[in-house]
Amino acid sequence: MDILIRNIHVIDPISETDGIRDVLISSGVFADVGKNIRKKADKTIDGSKLWMLPGLIDMHCHLREPGNEEETILSGSYSAAAGGFTTICCMANTEPSIDNKVVAGYIFEKSREAPIQVLPYGTVTIGRKGELLSPMGELAQAGVVGFSDDGNCVMDSLIFRRALEYSKTWQKIVVSHSEDQILARNGVMNEGVLSTKLGLRGIPAEAEHIMVYRDISLAALTGAKLHLAHLTTRKSVELVKEAKKHLKNITCEAAIHHLVLTEEALTNYDANAKVSPPLRTQEDIRALVKGIKENVIDAIVTDHAPHSEEEKGSGIEHAPFGMIGFETALPLVMSLVKYGLKPIQIIEKMTSGPARILRRKANTISREAEANCVIFDPDAEWIVRKENIRSLSKNTPFLNKKLRGKVLCTFYCGLPVYSDKTLI
Ligand code: DOR
Repeated sequence: MDILIRNIHVIDPISETDGIRDVLISSGVFADVGKNIRKKADKTIDGSKLWMLPGLIDMHCHLREPGNEEETILSGSYSAAAGGFTTICCMANTEPSIDNKVVAGYIFEKSREAPIQVLPYGTVTIGRKGELLSPMGELAQAGVVGFSDDGNCVMDSLIFRRALEYSKTWQKIVVSHSEDQILARNGVMNEGVLSTKLGLRGIPAEAEHIMVYRDISLAALTGAKLHLAHLTTRKSVELVKEAKKHLKNITCEAAIHHLVLTEEALTNYDANAKVSPPLRTQEDIRALVKGIKENVIDAIVTDHAPHSEEEKGSGIEHAPFGMIGFETALPLVMSLVKYGLKPIQIIEKMTSGPARILRRKANTISREAEANCVIFDPDAEWIVRKENIRSLSKNTPFLNKKLRGKVLCTFYCGLPVYSDKTLI
């Protein structure tokens, strides 16, 4: 079926388009992109007041298959499609973890039924225990996008050094969860006045800085491609900014929740706001946003981390870290325009930014390119309701909150893989 979308605001960092266009989707590709397309289509949609963005790439999320019921590869990928993502990279902290080719193969096999592209990471160490290197060659051959023990920091610097060295053989990134686990032990939230008031054990910003510094040092020593996951503090941004003056092999990301929420979200002991690394302060948010503006931060990710109601309801001290993030991603991230970020700058960090890091082709709304895109209504307001969340888990502090901006439709290879039924 050919679909012609008229007068839609196309925002595409690759083709550097930020204006009104007609877009014709046919046979899986953008058959035409231009002004006043004269061709006929099976279906014509009025796109005025709507945006079209290239399919988003989330280079950092968690699915729970194999091992847990909170999110399968299918449920997670449908949730991601509803958020506008056409590629997601899932971390290796499944049970068993993705530390061998059999588990990696299982993910690829299951992903064939997914509505979008799912690419797994392999672990750095066996079982993410930080003790023995995983069979990185075998994992690379199986097709993992990179290596990460995310959720855990590889505390042993020699092992991390070796992982970085070996990763060069396959030109794959190593993604670090840079947080000193001993300094952060038993921590629940950011360490500061608020954690003291609430009587909750704090995780000092220094737990992150120490490991960001170590990881940058090891990247400098080895020349390997290091990607620093979910940075949260002003100082971390400064460390990366300084390092990037001399090093070309370092990239980093910020997670959406660290950009839109502060530690205040834990004031009422909401376990859904307990994430690792923890939510920080407004000053840190400003520094992260500046990092995005200055291209110190290369990617924006969801760190979608599903957990069951039972787990999250077990009291804030015992609840696991993480919140879901696919379906609220675009409206939340677009709220950053209030800091003077342009929508196209934000979208770059969710499309061509991660594609560059992963050394993959970025989606673009250009003639003959694969039709992977999102139609987004920037003005629509909606309330996040448990019953409307597609993820199997509902652990978000945005439950029952009103958001502005809504994904109406996601296309993958020219097919609508998500539609809220208002358009198609
Ligand atoms: O908040 C988090 N949750 N951070 C991580 O690094 C891991 C993740 C998870 O898997 O639940």
